[in-house]
Amino acid sequence: MIQSKRADSSKVGSGSISYRIFRTDITANELYCAAKCVIIWVEVMPVFKMNPYRPGAGLMPVYLAGRDEDIQNVEQMFEALTLNIPTPSIIFSGLRGVGKTVLINRLQKLAEEKEIFCRHIEVEERNDFISQIAACGQAFLRQVSAKEKFKNLIQKPLDAIKALVVSFDPNDSTFSLSVQEKELYQSVNLTQSLTDVFTSIGETAYKSGIPVCFFIDEIQYMKSKDLGALIAALHRTNQLGYPVMVAGAGLPKIYKMLSGEKSYSERLFLYKEIGSLTDEQSRSAIEIPAKKFGITYTDNAIERILSVTKGYPFFIQQLCQVVFKNVDEEVIESRHVEQSVEEFFETLDVGFFKVRYERCADSDKKFVFAMVKCGELPCMISNIAKNLHKNVSSISTTRAQLISKGIIYPVRYKELDFTVPEFSGFIQRLAEYKAWCMEH
Ligand SMILES: Nc1ncnc2c1ncn2[C@@H]1O[C@H](COP(=O)(O)OP(=O)(O)OP(=O)(O)O)[C@@H](O)[C@H]1O
Ligand SMILES: [Mg+2]
Repeated sequence: MIQSKRADSSKVGSGSISYRIFRTDITANELYCAAKCVIIWVEVMPVFKMNPYRPGAGLMPVYLAGRDEDIQNVEQMFEALTLNIPTPSIIFSGLRGVGKTVLINRLQKLAEEKEIFCRHIEVEERNDFISQIAACGQAFLRQVSAKEKFKNLIQKPLDAIKALVVSFDPNDSTFSLSVQEKELYQSVNLTQSLTDVFTSIGETAYKSGIPVCFFIDEIQYMKSKDLGALIAALHRTNQLGYPVMVAGAGLPKIYKMLSGEKSYSERLFLYKEIGSLTDEQSRSAIEIPAKKFGITYTDNAIERILSVTKGYPFFIQQLCQVVFKNVDEEVIESRHVEQSVEEFFETLDVGFFKVRYERCADSDKKFVFAMVKCGELPCMISNIAKNLHKNVSSISTTRAQLISKGIIYPVRYKELDFTVPEFSGFIQRLAEYKAWCMEH
């Protein structure tokens, strides 16, 4: 039936607008079926309500609160880069969900507006950094070679990229080389090879007037040898005064990782730790997105949100999203927030917290339980060992494993904390933890 309707439909065109006219001799049965479909669709289809809050990894909030100073600072650095003034690189560190990714994404947008060549790299535990940086280098050369007068500038960096890939990315099939060529390009020194890539790209950037900024997220997952080579390469490029910089982000442990690799990294990078928002900044993060919808919050409602979220950007987005979804009034009051707190924690438990928890092996989980049992965080490794009825050396492998998975990080000497804010509250809600406590 429906088919015959489609076949009978005809088009009446008028200028660029066209209308579709259907048959009018529809039977009662057809009409009944169609109406039933609509009713079922209405029943199944959830009502869509626009929501201005955006909880989620790397999701740009409607209003990026409290980062103006950092943005202005880095804009100055970009300005210097475009003027060929040697510029340090910048590294942001902070706990999960404080807004590192959205900050560097915002910076990338600003850099692109200044016609800086930008590329974003997200380091993953399993991903190969060398192939990623090589691809970024190639993309830069493609952009440069688009202009005829710069075509002569690309051979040297292209050769350097070729040597890097051929020597250190065995899975790559980008460059098919003869045996003799392979011998020519083969290198055994990663640092030297990456330095050649950076300095030759830097020279090309300088001569073509196209500065370069690589945005590298989740730096804590970089392999030590790759990180050491990256710092050395950047250092040499900086010494030569070429306009290349890195804007990076990662968990708090990256400061130690970078300075551990090369002592001079402290001069090469500006470090900025970012954390939860102040009360004033949190207020803006809460109020500004809703304003567009004519929705306001009472002071008490804001205070309640602040006390639940402690100013963590991700938690603010998540709680406000739930409150906004549940309330149909123009003024959101503290009782509305209260009514949504349970749903907020449930949402975090099945998403934000659970994905981290599920990355833990059994031994990791026990270690995490023992940390929570310490009561106060950060906690001493000796207390964790005591709660596990083990000695410190026997739990050091699990400790290292959890650090490398990005679940915990060393705070001070022999002290540990979670990279995920409020993680211990989540653990305390788990039946598994409660059962473990009974046994211990
Ligand atoms: N300054 C801010 N103002 C308002 N909301 C923010 C701000 N920064 C981040 N957010 C929100 O917080 C959430 C987390 O941001 P983002 O993914 O950038 O955090 P992150 O620090 O990179 O976390 P992770 O370490 O897990 O990668 C997003 O929903 C984002 O919209
Ligand atoms: Mg991130």
